[in-house]
Amino acid sequence: MKKTIRDIDVKGKKVLVRCDFNVPMQDGVITDDNRITAAMPTISYLKEHGAKVILMSHMGRPKGQPKMEYTLQPVADRLSQLLGQDVKFVSSPVVVDDAVRAAAAELAEGDIMLLENVRFRKEETDNDAGFAKDLADLAEIFVQEAFGTAHRAHASTAGVADYLPAVSGFLIEKEVKFLGGAVDEPERPFVAIMGGAKVGDKIPVIENLLKKVDALIIGGGMAYTFYKAMGFEIGKSILDADNIDFAKELLEKAEAAGVKMLLPIDVVCADAFSNDANTVIVDRDQMPADMEGLDIGPKTVELYRETLLAAKTVVWNGPMGVFEMPNFAVGTKAIAEVLAEADAVTIIGGGDSAAAVEQFGLADKMTHISTGGGASLEFLEGKVLPGIAVIEEM
Ligand code: 3PG
Repeated sequence: MKKTIRDIDVKGKKVLVRCDFNVPMQDGVITDDNRITAAMPTISYLKEHGAKVILMSHMGRPKGQPKMEYTLQPVADRLSQLLGQDVKFVSSPVVVDDAVRAAAAELAEGDIMLLENVRFRKEETDNDAGFAKDLADLAEIFVQEAFGTAHRAHASTAGVADYLPAVSGFLIEKEVKFLGGAVDEPERPFVAIMGGAKVGDKIPVIENLLKKVDALIIGGGMAYTFYKAMGFEIGKSILDADNIDFAKELLEKAEAAGVKMLLPIDVVCADAFSNDANTVIVDRDQMPADMEGLDIGPKTVELYRETLLAAKTVVWNGPMGVFEMPNFAVGTKAIAEVLAEADAVTIIGGGDSAAAVEQFGLADKMTHISTGGGASLEFLEGKVLPGIAVIEEM
């Protein structure tokens, strides 16, 4: 078991907290602050327990340059609003300089400050020891709270733990509990839903989950690569040509492992990749040569619904169709609604599936929505994430 902030005394201590405040922005405005609110329980706990809190994060990929379009100023403003107190933001192009050190030294118990985007320094992604030490020297304790970046071995996510005692925050604890618990000790039946465009992106996760699940449901663009492997006509649908053989192998592996593998049985086909395209719904062996599949059909929804309502644990990663276009969001929405209704632990991988559940207003009906896109996928692959490996054991 990993140590958490509950297991240490933080009173009067300077605590350096790595968050993932890499939130979507449009014209300098935060469009989704979930990653900020997800860190609030930890920040509030530290504040209430008399810590001097120093927050840090990356934003985007400024490639080691102090590009101000990636400043964390909007995040500091949002934090100040949410906390109802001024979050001190000392923007430095080098992240840590004398002004930043002075501001950190002056913090009183319960004060909160935020450092500038750690990726303004190239040394961050290089996991440079000097930069990690510069960060660590600001504080006495390191708190890992950046689940979304825990798959990166960077100076602020991993290197810093060489110089400070490292514990986890509540978000990391929760992510590990749900994602780890689902994979290692699921209440059964355990069903995984895998969607998204390319089989190639999901190979390691599907291979790992095939060893654990009772049923594997496939949706989204990747279904057509499976169809191809099964000998169906897929028209102009997206095809991951390099992975047709792998799809074939997977079908065999699932059968050998006794895992029920479900593929769409009907498809919404469109004559163009556009919300206004003409569409037909056909059985999977009837796809027109001049059309492409953009969503699962109603018979598929019914089939998946039956399996999902019998499940006790469900992990979902990847949409069922092109949900960004309303006319092809029907299948993804239907699956989200089934999960909202299901009497099961429902865990939504980050990225697109999380965005879909939010878009449909069903987020509060899920047991857990991960804040990690790439990180949750690597976690489900069974990998040890470097940002989690550095947290001390009890
Ligand atoms: C994410 O959004 O997945 C994380 O913040 C990690 O960002 P990165 O892929 O740029 O490392």
